[in-house]
Amino acid sequence: MSHVYEGEKFERATSRESLAKRLAINKAYASADFDGWLMERLAVQPGEDVLDVGCGTGAQTLAIAKRVQPGGSVSALDISASSVEALTEALDEGDPVQAVVGDMADLQALIDGTFRVTRYDLAQSTYALYYANEREAVLDVMKGALNPGGRLAVFTPQEPHGLVELAARFSTVPEPVYDSLRFGAEVLAPWFRAAFETVEEHHFHNRLAIPTADDVITFYRATTYYEADAESDIRAYVEAEIANKGAFEYEKNGYLAIGRDGK
Ligand SMILES: C[S@@+](CC[C@H](N)C(=O)[O-])C[C@H]1O[C@@H](n2cnc3c(N)ncnc32)[C@H](O)[C@@H]1O
Repeated sequence: MSHVYEGEKFERATSRESLAKRLAINKAYASADFDGWLMERLAVQPGEDVLDVGCGTGAQTLAIAKRVQPGGSVSALDISASSVEALTEALDEGDPVQAVVGDMADLQALIDGTFRVTRYDLAQSTYALYYANEREAVLDVMKGALNPGGRLAVFTPQEPHGLVELAARFSTVPEPVYDSLRFGAEVLAPWFRAAFETVEEHHFHNRLAIPTADDVITFYRATTYYEADAESDIRAYVEAEIANKGAFEYEKNGYLAIGRDGK
């Protein structure tokens, strides 16, 4: 299995419950509408075949499934069986989605042996690619599976990230967290520029303003950088911020690269 985390941290990176908590808190307190921002840029059209790598509980899959109809499809994979189950339960009848449990390190084998649709007009991965050790190999497979004129789109978080900065004041943040925040600038941007003649780059600017310490701690507990020993210090810091400013506010930004096949 290919993953940058092990044990308890792997659980928090892949569990359906942790993802649901992070998504709900992000959605409730964000200054910008991430789903709308992303869908506008992915610009999915009716009839398109889409590959979704690291689909989780379907935040993108479900929206894309509506946009590809009639005639298109979504082939989605995630390493978390419980997340794929949640996605499958959330599908409406007739949604043209094949969602499978699989490791993105095995993407080529899944395309060759499991997915019914094997060439894509859009191959996309949101908040997921940096979890795999073989991220560049996965990018190569995604690009190789594009139809002529198809797009490859990858979204990743980007520095600064205020909650990570707070955690770092009171604990040692694992290196893969910093790696994920640098993934866009250090891996994606050069890889896309080498792989495509034309690359679109988009920066997502977002601030979270969380009004209760309980929600901040619920979010923190669902992250890979959670440390039980640091929790009371972090809670005290957040409570002081909320008393002063009415909310714990921080930046949580992202980077989206889109390349278009030139054939
Ligand atoms: C932060 S979630 C993002 C999910 C979804 N794209 C979204 O934006 O809500 C990252 C997902 O990547 C999945 N993942 C991590 N490592 C993976 C791997 N090696 N292969 C496939 N999926 C993986 C996790 O299980 C998790 O569902």
